[in-house]
Amino acid sequence: MTTGTILLVDDEPAFLRLAAAWLEKQGQRVITAANGAEARAAFAGARPDLVVLDLVMPPERTPEAGLALISVFSAVPVVVLTAHADTALALRAVAAGAWDFLTKPVEPELLRFVVERALAKRALDQELARLRAPGTGDDGMIGASPAIQRLRDMVRRVGPAAVPVLVLGPSGSGKELVARALHAAGPRRAGPFVTVHCGAIPAELLESELFGHLKGSFTGAHQDRAGLLATAHGGTLFLDEVGETPPPMQVKLLRFLQEGTFTPVGARQPATADVRLISATHRDLETMVAAGGFREDFYYRLKGVVLRSPALTERREDIAPLAARFLADTAGRRRLRFTTEALAWLAEQSWPGNVRELKAVVAAATALADPGGDGTIGPADLGFARSGELPAGTPGPAQPQTLPEAVAALERRLITAALAATTANHSAAARRLGVSRVGLLKMMKRLALR
Ligand SMILES: Nc1ncnc2c1ncn2[C@@H]1O[C@H](COP(=O)(O)OP(=O)(O)OP(=O)(O)O)[C@@H](O)[C@H]1O
Ligand SMILES: [Mg+2]
Repeated sequence: MTTGTILLVDDEPAFLRLAAAWLEKQGQRVITAANGAEARAAFAGARPDLVVLDLVMPPERTPEAGLALISVFSAVPVVVLTAHADTALALRAVAAGAWDFLTKPVEPELLRFVVERALAKRALDQELARLRAPGTGDDGMIGASPAIQRLRDMVRRVGPAAVPVLVLGPSGSGKELVARALHAAGPRRAGPFVTVHCGAIPAELLESELFGHLKGSFTGAHQDRAGLLATAHGGTLFLDEVGETPPPMQVKLLRFLQEGTFTPVGARQPATADVRLISATHRDLETMVAAGGFREDFYYRLKGVVLRSPALTERREDIAPLAARFLADTAGRRRLRFTTEALAWLAEQSWPGNVRELKAVVAAATALADPGGDGTIGPADLGFARSGELPAGTPGPAQPQTLPEAVAALERRLITAALAATTANHSAAARRLGVSRVGLLKMMKRLALR
């Protein structure tokens, strides 16, 4: 049965009362208005899904005034009420945009039937609008390979369900994107999506981060603080790198999964939150369970449904479209394009860092592209962007004029390449370059590198 909010407009109080009671009994939400002016205000304020409109009402008492109202409510289906003898008026109303009509006195079962049919149309209209709107309804996942299509299909099916989902896959393969797509595909899409990096928060802090704490529960707790679980109420909590969750927290999260309750630090009473849990890890949880590093009961609870985010090399046909999108995103107004050989080169690489690495290499190649060049990016440019090493026999970028310019250009190139090779990990890039992390950040600032 389809339910929604219905605006009933009629000048007869008895009809409003009876019809409202009847529809509410069917699970509908009903608001009422006694004339056109009230109806306009209620329509703007309550955003109903359907309007049931009497065509002849005071002060005008003319069908023309009623017919004119239909277009005011045309964003939703309008069902008009007409006198029994007046089928001609009913047809004029349909011609003016009404979705359906009912004749008075209204037969309750017919009212229910017409209302549900109109609400079903309304739901379809909304779904269509969502799918057509640019940006929305789009899961952000680029790719048309069978692997990605299977994943999309799973997201569509599992997204609306309430079960916990565990997203597995190698680093940089898009697990977080899948988690967001699941959230967007379900009824909680308007609610919050909250991410917790289970490995990045020190074990002592994780409990209060997640569950919140009461004032005075530990040194430094100067006031009550809601945790991320409470923040995610009505939405989704994404436990990223769930494999890093310390065992005591595993127990507490397990309790939340089983009973829906948790206890804020320092609280006596358990609290509840309506939260859907999605977790992800690149680690092999099954092996961790076997080795005693991860609780088996928690593992089984987390993996209500398991989705696998494929490695980039399992879907090489997606590499070119991904690279093209990343190039368009990073190049901005500069007109850059890959040569055919460049796309072939990209498709052949091993990509241990998966999509994240591809994105970083494309960004580095964009940064390195010669502003005075022809706007093409070839395999040599990409190889250099990836490793910082020029393949033998390839001409380098245009030579700078002065020594300081040459030094800056070289620094820029080496730093960009080191960042690309370490997927923008500053510490690792600094180690590679033989400088301190702070030194690297200073150089990046001086060279205006992000
Ligand atoms: N199918 C895709 N389409 C477009 N962008 C993608 C796709 N998959 C991944 N990305 C991009 O690649 C980057 C890495 O993705 P994400 O953070 O989701 O990976 P992850 O699997 O969570 O990695 P990690 O295990 O390191 O946390 C992000 O910038 C993401 O937007
Ligand atoms: Mg991630």
